[in-house]
Amino acid sequence: MEIVIVPDPAAAGELIAAAITDLLTDKPEALLGVATGSTPLPIYQSLAARVADGRLDASRARICQLDEYVGLPAGHPESYRSVVLREVVEPLGLTEDSFLGPDGNAEDIAAAAIAYDRALAEAGGVDLQILGIGTDGHIGFNEPCSSLSSRTRIKTLTRQTRVDNARFFDSIDQVPHHVITQGIGTILEARHLVLLATGEAKAEAVALAVEGPLAAVVPASALQLHQHATVVVDEAAASKLKLAGYFRDTYAAKPAWQGL
Ligand code: GLP
Repeated sequence: MEIVIVPDPAAAGELIAAAITDLLTDKPEALLGVATGSTPLPIYQSLAARVADGRLDASRARICQLDEYVGLPAGHPESYRSVVLREVVEPLGLTEDSFLGPDGNAEDIAAAAIAYDRALAEAGGVDLQILGIGTDGHIGFNEPCSSLSSRTRIKTLTRQTRVDNARFFDSIDQVPHHVITQGIGTILEARHLVLLATGEAKAEAVALAVEGPLAAVVPASALQLHQHATVVVDEAAASKLKLAGYFRDTYAAKPAWQGL
């Protein structure tokens, strides 16, 4: 696992967007897994700016969703499908034809989850998966004590996650209890995992995920199992890392040709 400490969220967005630019240059039809929430927005803004000024040709890219609420009406502005279309797909000049996501409104949610896992595999697998992290260490919507080998399935949100996400709704009562999320085992199949965390509120979860033991109670610690996992943190989110000095030295000495 590589830990990269950057000054601020804008620098993180540039760094990860540059890595995605390199990926799409090598593999124009790459499947890019995207996360929702506030943290990854600087990445999407940098990608859109690169498309606008010609530094990035994303016209053949494919985009897939990490997780979804269950039961929000189709087209609800806070369904993750709507968010990804609005924040990523449209700004990159893509259409829904380039987009894959689970159906949070399916009559048979269990079948929809299995179908999404299969669709990802049939699409050739995710090339680069962007991840955020919940204050409780969750990735996607894999709450604490999710199986480290879990597949895409229905999960129940913790009260804390519903409180954290209530800012996107009029009240916490409107935040669904249930979600479909790529499982931790599913996420680990992506070829490159890039977790971004910014702000003091994420510092403890980052320290537990990076320097704590591998444990289902901290789902993000599963990145320790992956051969190509990159954790990008700003100074605030890095503030509880005991090995921060080592991580800084390592990145400063990294040959530029290696990329992320
Ligand atoms: C939700 C999403 C996660 C995201 C998390 C943190 O729970 N399912 O994918 O990482 O929120 O969001 P934020 O970046 O807004 O803190």
